Amino acid sequence: MAGNVWRSMLSQVVLGAVRRPALPSFARGMQTVTLIPGDGIGPEISTAVIKIFEAAKAPISWEERNVTAIKGPGGRWMIPPDAKESMDKSKIGLKGPLKTPIAAGHPSMNLLLRKTFDLYANVRPCVSIEGYKTPYADVDLVTIRENTEGEYSGIEHMIVDGVVQSIKLITENASRRIAEYAFEYARNNQRNSVTAVHKANIMRMSDGLFLRKCREVAENYKDIKFTEMYLDTVCLNMVQDPTQFDVLVMPNLYGDILSDLCAGLIGGLGVTPSGNIGTNGVAIFESVHGTAPDIAGMDLANPTALLLSAVMMLRHMGMHDYANKIQTACFDTIRDKKVLTKDLGGNSKCSEFTAEICRRIQDLD
Ligand SMILES: NC(=O)c1ccc[n+]([C@@H]2O[C@H](COP(=O)([O-])OP(=O)(O)OC[C@H]3O[C@@H](n4cnc5c(N)ncnc54)[C@H](O)[C@@H]3O)[C@@H](O)[C@H]2O)c1
Repeated sequence: MAGNVWRSMLSQVVLGAVRRPALPSFARGMQTVTLIPGDGIGPEISTAVIKIFEAAKAPISWEERNVTAIKGPGGRWMIPPDAKESMDKSKIGLKGPLKTPIAAGHPSMNLLLRKTFDLYANVRPCVSIEGYKTPYADVDLVTIRENTEGEYSGIEHMIVDGVVQSIKLITENASRRIAEYAFEYARNNQRNSVTAVHKANIMRMSDGLFLRKCREVAENYKDIKFTEMYLDTVCLNMVQDPTQFDVLVMPNLYGDILSDLCAGLIGGLGVTPSGNIGTNGVAIFESVHGTAPDIAGMDLANPTALLLSAVMMLRHMGMHDYANKIQTACFDTIRDKKVLTKDLGGNSKCSEFTAEICRRIQDLD
């Protein structure tokens, strides 16, 4: 049951998620994708995805780019020009985790990427995986997180020694944009309800504005049920019974936390894919876990999250046959339980798990 939900979910998630007029048109034949392997386990799981795509004969040509923060004109932090140029051209990126050194002086690279390409919507489907038992069955929800402002606007300063201030920026435009996106998503993916998650009882002006825009947009989507809930109530209800939720839309920080919580319901960050949808047809798909420095270079990483993000990417590009093949091989491998990485309860290496998926892909041919 859950596996089937996954299958239909992944088949709809990206195509439904992106407003159709903004979709880049991908001609048949080889397509270029910007690959940002990232740090820590990033290169290992990227290699796994490349091998699996090769086994599936997916017509993707990877343009690999490293992303580190560099200082541009006027001292502004930016991503390297060759990475920007590649993304501007390909429009599609696949990204591994990037480390954010604390107190390095530059903003988080993930933040910088989001700002550079105006990746305003983070979409994370959390759907139970057949054969991978967690305390929760039949989870089938999607978190949609406003990705560009809110608590992560990066506006911080010291007022006096020992006192710092961080500004939570909420704008009418960004709130309306994410609300419209969530309702469009719900409609295009045959989902029934959208829940706006907020704390407008405390942050009356900022969350109040966000909520007001959600309410206004909801008026134009009478076919979708709209509810509003406090973040703390959502957390409580989520762990009691996640099946009551469908699409959830929220400002940045709440989305960051809640989407990780939801990932935990289906087995953790190692199995949760994610897509970041931007303006001008740009989209970057990424694993949502970090660089896992404790296991980096040890061939222990689970590549599933990056692989499923790459499957989302293939669907976004209209390559459903390849997506189906890879997804089936991945889920069959997990359901069989014979070759699993440690985080999934097995003893296999990342390379063995990858080889098993490749073998199954060849069997499917
Ligand atoms: N999207 C991103 O790029 C992203 C997200 C979160 C954290 N980070 C960065 O990653 C670094 C480490 O962060 P952290 O330790 O808080 O979180 P983390 O996700 O890297 O690790 C948390 C735990 O989960 C395990 N884990 C994570 N991914 C795994 C995988 N694919 N397979 C098997 N086990 C996996 C790790 O071994 C570790 O035990 C930091 O620099 C942080 O800024 C990046």
